[in-house]
Amino acid sequence: MKLIIINGPNLNLLGKREPEVYGTQTFEDYLLLLRGKFQEIDLEYYQSNIEGELIDKIQEVGFTYDGIILNAAAYTHTSVGIGDAIKAITTPVVEVHISNTFSREEFRHRSYVSPGAKGVILGFGLRSYDLAILSFLKE
Ligand code: DQA
Repeated sequence: MKLIIINGPNLNLLGKREPEVYGTQTFEDYLLLLRGKFQEIDLEYYQSNIEGELIDKIQEVGFTYDGIILNAAAYTHTSVGIGDAIKAITTPVVEVHISNTFSREEFRHRSYVSPGAKGVILGFGLRSYDLAILSFLKE
């Protein structure tokens, strides 16, 4: 099974960015643990701070991979382009957020990703990504 985690803007700063909200672990460290835990999965990782690059990556993998785990970060709440890209592809997308966006500011309650997503997992810290991977595995 080939999955990709796509992270949007500012998630490259995990570990030092607002640790009270996003924790103290870097994504690179967490990814090592994830890959160790799910060795049967070919797990790719991509991060960009640029909206168009995220859309390019979604298009690139979106017809061949088995799943996309997408944390579009702030673009979740603003990007019609990312929402349209998800609807244009055939690979299922699971939307992920580290924080519970519904317990935060009102502008974070809206998602342009959710309407095209297979499901949404949020609020479990980095474990949200674990849970998203599990959602692709057969029981
Ligand atoms: C986030 C939530 C977004 O509202 C925020 O802009 C992020 C991270 C999360 O994972 O909790 O950058 O997607």
